[in-house]
Amino acid sequence: MSDHTDTTSDSVVAVPEDRSAAVPSELPVLPLRDTVLFPNSFMPLAVARESSVRLIDEAIANGKIIGVFAQRDPALDEPLQADLYPVGTATHIHKMFRLPDGSLRLIVQGLSRVRLEQVVAIKPYLRATTSAAEDELKDADRLEIDALLRNIKSNFQKVVSLSPLLSDDLQTLALNIEEPARLADFIASSLSTLSTATKQEVLETLDVRARMDSLNRILIKELEVLELGSKIQSQVQSEVGRNQREYFLREQLKAIQKELGEDDDQQKEIEELREKIDAAGMPEAVLKEAHRELDRLSRMPAAAAEYTVSRTYLDWLVALPWNKRTEEVIDLARTKRILDEEHSGLAKAKDRILEYLAVRKLNPVVKGPILCFVGPPGVGKTSLARSIATSLDRKFVRVSLGGMRDEAEIRGHRRTYIGALPGQIVQGLRRAETKNPVFILDEIDKLGSDFRGDPSSALLEVLDPEQNDTFRDHYLDVPFDLSEVLFITTANILDPVPPALRDRMEVLELPGYTEEEKLQIAREHLVAKQVANHGLTPEDVSFSDEALGAVIRGYTREAGVRNLEREIGALCRKAARRRAEGQLEPLSITRDVVIEMLGAPRFLDEEMEERTKEPGVAIGLAWTPAGGDVLFIEASRMTGSGALTLTGSLGDVMKESARAALSWTRAHAAELDIDPDFYKGAEIHLHVPSGAIPKDGPSAGVTMTTALVSELTGRPVRGDIAMTGEITLSGRVLPVGGIKEKVLAARRVGIREVILPRQNEKNVNEDLSPVLRADLTIHLVSTIEEVLALALTPKPSLTPELQATR
Ligand SMILES: Nc1ncnc2c1ncn2[C@@H]1O[C@H](COP(=O)(O)OP(=O)(O)OP(=O)(O)O)[C@@H](O)[C@H]1O
Ligand SMILES: [Mg+2]
Repeated sequence: MSDHTDTTSDSVVAVPEDRSAAVPSELPVLPLRDTVLFPNSFMPLAVARESSVRLIDEAIANGKIIGVFAQRDPALDEPLQADLYPVGTATHIHKMFRLPDGSLRLIVQGLSRVRLEQVVAIKPYLRATTSAAEDELKDADRLEIDALLRNIKSNFQKVVSLSPLLSDDLQTLALNIEEPARLADFIASSLSTLSTATKQEVLETLDVRARMDSLNRILIKELEVLELGSKIQSQVQSEVGRNQREYFLREQLKAIQKELGEDDDQQKEIEELREKIDAAGMPEAVLKEAHRELDRLSRMPAAAAEYTVSRTYLDWLVALPWNKRTEEVIDLARTKRILDEEHSGLAKAKDRILEYLAVRKLNPVVKGPILCFVGPPGVGKTSLARSIATSLDRKFVRVSLGGMRDEAEIRGHRRTYIGALPGQIVQGLRRAETKNPVFILDEIDKLGSDFRGDPSSALLEVLDPEQNDTFRDHYLDVPFDLSEVLFITTANILDPVPPALRDRMEVLELPGYTEEEKLQIAREHLVAKQVANHGLTPEDVSFSDEALGAVIRGYTREAGVRNLEREIGALCRKAARRRAEGQLEPLSITRDVVIEMLGAPRFLDEEMEERTKEPGVAIGLAWTPAGGDVLFIEASRMTGSGALTLTGSLGDVMKESARAALSWTRAHAAELDIDPDFYKGAEIHLHVPSGAIPKDGPSAGVTMTTALVSELTGRPVRGDIAMTGEITLSGRVLPVGGIKEKVLAARRVGIREVILPRQNEKNVNEDLSPVLRADLTIHLVSTIEEVLALALTPKPSLTPELQATR
């Protein structure tokens, strides 16, 4: 192994004491392979050559002073005098450690320069006479040396700060050395990147000024190398981060431009915003918030993503009707006139609306409940609400809640979301441009809820007069006063509406129209509306009542008038086309024209009679969200194990009424002329078609019993009579709901005779108009026997073969 320093970053420490006086003239010579030791510095050394180890051993015992000389060629194992540089360092062995393999670790301290004079021994190690090599310092050089000293110090500081290999402590140490020769040695020995030859050159230069000169040149060169290195480094980085750099530069440029007042556009924009904010009539707290945000905005560069976010937010704040309202006139006579003008019929609903408004007028402070219009599609819920707005001179906005599952749709997303917006309530108000519009929340029964939060709880807050004067949208994050908004909600059915919401609402039912009412609506409103919509005048096209009746009966089957309006629209479209094609004489639409234009009627009255020809089928009336419907209930008996099978998506309550029907029939088999053991070895099957639609409720009890008895007696049920009612095991018929809807459904399919529970007499008198009642035969019954007597036809006389199959 070799003698050399064991690390490249030599730990060099300036040594204050001076031992040079004690250096003997003959010294053992320790060759160093790849480093140079300077006077006044400490350095660790590793010694492994056998001769060197012996040298150290003996030196330790002998004054601890040795001569250290660098090799010209580091590869030589046994260098002679000519292989060593002529100038070296007299060195004191400060510490020695012996390693297990016999090699040594030393800490040595350079004392003074010595010149190698004469070799006196080669074995066992080199010994030679030496002479002191003194620094040469001319007084004349003093000034220059001072200048160099400062120069060197400052260059060295730069080198240390740029070089990752040099410890920052070196700067402090160098600053504290005032002696020029020593500073030069210290720095030369500290620069770990210098080659042995360069270091040796410094060591050999005894003229202090020359030494400093060359050191300064070394430092400058070192500095250049380091600077070039960091330039290369930053170039590489800038390749990678060019986009970022450009971005930052551009931002800086903008900031500077703004600073210089050159970014006028942005400045102007902010001033404009400030004016708008001050003019928006915001409450104090909101105004403060808006100004704070504007301040933030004015400090942002216009191209920053955040600028747009902040700007959009302020636009929203400015656009809201904080203080804008239309002057409300509650003039009941006027409201009544407008409601009547725009809607036929609906007397009950109109009365309730007028009452509601009267209360508001008398007591504007107390916040009444929220109106809720409940009824099947197309009965005029939305359009009534619109009329209310017109009559009160208020703006009208509509938000559909159908399918909303996310609370944020009502209340908005927090601004931290990308693309966040206010919720529908605030958006609606912006559209309304006033803080007191009529605000209709459509389809409140179709509100969903899932993991994203319950929109109904947000809605509750909106509708609650106790807290809606400080409604807080997540996006706005400032309170908005909703207390002057007149909210109206609509629903097809009330059941799915959460009870807490229902409690806040005054429910107003719109059950659907009779044929006569529809005719009137068509005559007074729909025709005129559609004629105008199609660019026609009443002189161009007219509808006969007969034609309208044919459309109502043959082409629509609905509680409301939406499809009716659509079919009238279709007729107008065809009329418009004829005119466009040149047939300019007025067109009068009659029943025949309807059939010619719309094709064969889609719904036929005869269908009913057809379906009930066979025994076992009875016509029931059901109440559905679409406003009442006609159901065919079918019973059949086949061989089996005595079970009762029920099909058609029946709910539990409906299944129970099926069982009650069967039990009553079994109990009364004898009176009904049925085999009392009819169920033995047989399976009874009750089916309610339209299986995909879930059905429930007890009101099909009488119909199921009738179908069953019809099947078992072989007596068909009348096809022109429909029924509804719950039954008990003793055969009593109990009242049911939705009488008007059910009766209207029967009328829609052309049935003019209905069986209803006697206990529903009140509904018949109150809910059915005299016109409707006059057109119907209504049987009020208390027992199932009465029902059977009315509905079952006599047994047909059967052929012997048919009789055999029964
Ligand atoms: N009594 C009426 N008089 C005049 N027009 C009516 C009447 N009822 C309904 N209409 C008209 O029928 C159409 C449908 O009414 P609207 O849209 O208000 O129904 P809706 O009850 O809101 O239905 P949905 O539940 O489907 O929203 C409208 O053009 C409306 O003007
Ligand atoms: Mg509607």
